[in-house]
Amino acid sequence: MKSSCIVAIDFGTAYSGYAYSLTLNESEVLQVKRWEQKSGADTPKTPTCVLFDEDQSFVEFGYKARDRYYHICHNSKDFYYFKDFKMQLYNKRITEDLQLLDVNLRPMNALKVFSAALRFLKKDALDTINKETQDADLTQLTWVLTVPAIWNNPARQFMREAAVQAGLVTEATAHKLVIALEPEAADSSGHRPEHGTQYVVVNCGGGTIDMTVHEVLEGGALKELHKASGSDGGGVKVDRQFRECMRRFFCDGLWDDYERHHPKEAQTFTDDFICFRQADLSRERKLDFYRNSNICWKKRRNRIKFCSVRWKV
Ligand SMILES: Nc1ncnc2c1ncn2[C@@H]1O[C@H](COP(=O)(O)OP(=O)(O)OP(=O)(O)O)[C@@H](O)[C@H]1O
Ligand SMILES: [Mg+2]
Repeated sequence: MKSSCIVAIDFGTAYSGYAYSLTLNESEVLQVKRWEQKSGADTPKTPTCVLFDEDQSFVEFGYKARDRYYHICHNSKDFYYFKDFKMQLYNKRITEDLQLLDVNLRPMNALKVFSAALRFLKKDALDTINKETQDADLTQLTWVLTVPAIWNNPARQFMREAAVQAGLVTEATAHKLVIALEPEAADSSGHRPEHGTQYVVVNCGGGTIDMTVHEVLEGGALKELHKASGSDGGGVKVDRQFRECMRRFFCDGLWDDYERHHPKEAQTFTDDFICFRQADLSRERKLDFYRNSNICWKKRRNRIKFCSVRWKV
């Protein structure tokens, strides 16, 4: 009887998720975990947000961490809340003592933050698979964990160490953990071009834009034509620039104040901006914002322009 179980974790800057493949008695189950939002809708990834209490004990991950943080934002000094933290590993000297800054700029050990997030995803995956079947031998699991192609070896090794601390594998079962480059993982899920084809896969994420260049050899194997490369110019940078623009626009710390006291509304506002820039059809958008204002944006030749702010009376 052939059986195998693989869980692949996509640990993203903005969103994370996992998929699993189970082969039991010749039948295969391939699933992407869906994450439920408060609104009731579900999505294939959940925000890469981790909440710890004041003793630095893990509280929540994903949508639940985000909702909880919105709820307790007035006492946020009693909590550590990390979002968009993955790229803090980029171009840093990686040591065991590396510290990450939370949204209130308070430091915590980086390995602790990453391993807490991975431990959550591991537990969630095992619970989900257990619900799917009682027959899978979960001690024989193979884990796949994605990293950006532009990360150097110390950063990749850091992810491996975080996975060990999270209990995905032990030192003895380290071969059961595959560290995969994000564009290579994206490539393996798609259609394989015919023999002789040379092609580029570009993965545009929240933190990075990275790419691989391969040629398909006879038999379907791939030959790497260029070393994987890319930059840290992902979508989160656009989101940050948007917030910077808001800061300048409202001046006197109004936007920071708004984000601090109304993080949920500020996030909704930013999410709305993200949807707006993704949509091809909508050319103009009005958003209700801070107390009595009404902002209008226009999209022209892929550029977004503020065109008016009206104050309601
Ligand atoms: N169609 C789109 N156009 C522009 N930006 C987009 C689009 N879709 C998503 N984004 C932006 O991409 C980011 C999220 O994408 P994604 O979930 O692929 O990133 P990630 O996997 O978390 O990041 P990474 O893989 O780089 O670590 C967000 O910053 C969002 O604003
Ligand atoms: Mg990604």
